[in-house]
Amino acid sequence: MTGERIGIGFVGCGRISDLQCLGYIDHPRAEIRAVCDLDEARARASAERWGGARVYGDLAALLDDPEIDAVEILTPHHLHEEHATAALEAGKHVSLQKPPTPTLEALARLARVSERTGFTLRVFENFMFYPPHLKAKELIDAGAIGEPLSLRAKTASGRLTDGWALTPQTQAWRMNTDTCGGGATTFDHGYHCFNMGRFFMPEEVERVHAFIHWTELGPNERIDGPALISWKYAGAVPRYGSWEVIASLGMRVRSSYYASDDRLEIHGSEGVLWVNRCTGKLLDEPSVVLYRDGETRAFHDLECDWAESFRLGGIDFIDALCEGRVPAQDAQSARHTLAFALAAARSADEGREVAIAELEDG
Ligand SMILES: NC(=O)c1ccc[n+]([C@@H]2O[C@H](COP(=O)([O-])OP(=O)(O)OC[C@H]3O[C@@H](n4cnc5c(N)ncnc54)[C@H](O)[C@@H]3O)[C@@H](O)[C@H]2O)c1
Repeated sequence: MTGERIGIGFVGCGRISDLQCLGYIDHPRAEIRAVCDLDEARARASAERWGGARVYGDLAALLDDPEIDAVEILTPHHLHEEHATAALEAGKHVSLQKPPTPTLEALARLARVSERTGFTLRVFENFMFYPPHLKAKELIDAGAIGEPLSLRAKTASGRLTDGWALTPQTQAWRMNTDTCGGGATTFDHGYHCFNMGRFFMPEEVERVHAFIHWTELGPNERIDGPALISWKYAGAVPRYGSWEVIASLGMRVRSSYYASDDRLEIHGSEGVLWVNRCTGKLLDEPSVVLYRDGETRAFHDLECDWAESFRLGGIDFIDALCEGRVPAQDAQSARHTLAFALAAARSADEGREVAIAELEDG
C-alpha cells in the first residue's frame, strides 16, 4: 500500500467501469489514481469523473506507476489472462472481472502466478454482492426454508428502450466467441447465473445438461438464447437447479442498466424464497419474498439498485487487502463457476449431459 490508501489503476474504461468505480470512490482506504484505455478520450473522461486520475496510453505504463497498488481489469475476456499476468508480475494486486478467463487452463496459470508472486487475484462477480441476494443467503443460512432443495433462475432480455445505450464496440467483442470466450448470454452473463447456482446451495454442481439456441440477429451477428440449462448437485440429498434465458425482444424491461432482468426461486424442505429482480426492474414486487408455515413475508426495504452490488464488491476487495484476507471470490472458487459455465456450453454443443469432473479433472 502506498500511503494511507490503496492506489487503484483501471485497465479499461468501458461500459461497466461507471459502476465498478463506486466502491473505490466510497472507500476511505482507496483512491483511483490512474486509468488506461486504448480509447484515450474515454480514459480522459473517466479520469476526470474520478477526481483527476493519471491517464496512461497503455497497461505497461500504468504498471510502471509506483503509486498503483492494485488494478481493476475491465477488458474483453480474451485479454484477461495477459493483463492480469502482467499486473501480478509487476507487483500489483488484481481484481479481474468475470468470467475470469475463457478456459480453466488459463485460470490455473493465473492462479499460479498469483501464488508465486504473493499478490492477490480476486475474480469479481457482482450478483453475490446484490443486497437482495445477500438477504436471501442470510435467510437460507438461518434455516428459513429448511434444507435448500431446488434453485430456479430466469433471465428475461427485452428490447433496448430503457437503460443504457450500448456502443457497437461493447457489443462486438461479446458477439464474437473468440474474444468473449463463449456466448454473450450463457457465458458472459451466464457466469453470474452459474455463480448464483452455487451461491445458495450447500453442495457443488456435479452434472449439467443444456439446450442453447443460437438466434441469428443479422449478418455475422448471433446471440445464444433462448436457453434452458439444468443441473444436479453433488451429495446424497437429491437437489436440482435450472436456469432459463428468454429472449422477449419485443418486451420493454424497465431498467437503468441493461435491458434484461433476473429472478430466482429457491425451494427448501420447509419454505420458498423468491428474489424478484436484479439487473432491471421487470416486476413491481418486493425484492425478496419468503413463504413458510402458511405465511408470506415480503422484504420491501432492501436496497435493490443493481449498482449497489458493484459498490459492495469494490469495498470487499479493499477490505480484503487491508485485512490480509481472501476476497469473496478467489481463483479456486471462480474455477468451479467457470467449469460449470463451460460444462453447459459443452453439453449444448455435444447434445449430452456433462459431468463437471470431465472439465475439472481432464
Ligand atoms: N459484473 C457485471 O455485471 C459486468 C457487466 C458488464 C461487463 N462486465 C465485465 O467487465 C469487462 C468489461 O466489459 P465492458 O462491458 O465494460 O466492455 P467495454 O467493451 O464497454 O469496455 C472495454 C474497454 O476496454 C478497452 N480496452 C480493450 N483493450 C484494451 C487494452 N489492451 N488496454 C487497455 N484498454 C483496452 C476498450 O477500449 C474499452 O473501453 C468484461 O470482463 C465484462 O465481462 C461485467
